[in-house]
Amino acid sequence: MESPIKVFSNWVLNGKDEGMEKNHSASVENMIQYSTKGIDKYKFIDAGCGNGWVVRKVSSDPKCVSAIGVDGSIHMIEKAKMLDDKNEYFCNDLLKWIPKEKVDIVHSMEVFYYFEKPEILISRIYDNWLKNEGRLIMGVDHYVENKPSHSWKKDISITTMQLLSKNTWLNFFKSAGFSNVEYWYFGKKGEWNGTLIITGIK
Ligand SMILES: C[S@@+](CC[C@H](N)C(=O)[O-])C[C@H]1O[C@@H](n2cnc3c(N)ncnc32)[C@H](O)[C@@H]1O
Repeated sequence: MESPIKVFSNWVLNGKDEGMEKNHSASVENMIQYSTKGIDKYKFIDAGCGNGWVVRKVSSDPKCVSAIGVDGSIHMIEKAKMLDDKNEYFCNDLLKWIPKEKVDIVHSMEVFYYFEKPEILISRIYDNWLKNEGRLIMGVDHYVENKPSHSWKKDISITTMQLLSKNTWLNFFKSAGFSNVEYWYFGKKGEWNGTLIITGIK
C-alpha cells in the first residue's frame, strides 16, 4: 500500500496520467460548463490538477482571467509546467496550500476521497480559497452508490481512499458553510452510477 501522491507520481513515470484526461473529460466538461455559465470573468483553481490538462483547457476560455493548478505530486507538476508556461502550478499538499488571492471557482475531479478527513479540506477551501459568492465544484467516481468503484482501493493498493455516501459528501459541503448545495450524477450507464458532482456557493 502506498500514499495517493506516491501512486499518482508513478503514474506520470509510466504515462498513465494521460488516461485520466480521457476518462474524466466528459464529466469535467459538464462541471466546467455548469460552473462557468453566466459569469463574465473568473479566476479558477484546479485542486489536485494532475498533469494540468484542466488548467490548460479552462485558460483558453476568454472569460478566464487566471487559472492555477495545485497538486502534491512533483512529477505531475513538473509535467504540467513542461506542457504550459502560461499558467501557474504549485506542488503542495492541498491541506497546507493557500492561494495568494481568493478565486471565483475551485474545481476538483477525483481528488477529495484521497483525504483522511475530506471535510477539513472542504472547509479550508471555503475559508481560504474562495471569494464570497465563489463556487466549489467537485466530481468523484468512488462513492457508496457507485458499486463498480468499491474495489478500487484494493485494485490500486492505495493507503487513503474514503468510500463515502452522497449524503455524507453533501453534509460536508453544508457543514463548511456552502449554500445552494446541489448534486447530480453524470454519465450513468448500467451498474455504473456516473460521476457524483456536488457544488455549492460561498
Ligand atoms: C485521480 S488523480 C486526478 C487528477 C486530475 N484531477 C484529473 O482529473 O486528471 C488524483 C490527484 O490528486 C493528487 N493528490 C492526492 N492527494 C493529494 C494531496 N494530499 N495534496 C495534493 N494533491 C493530492 C494526486 O497527486 C493526483 O494527481
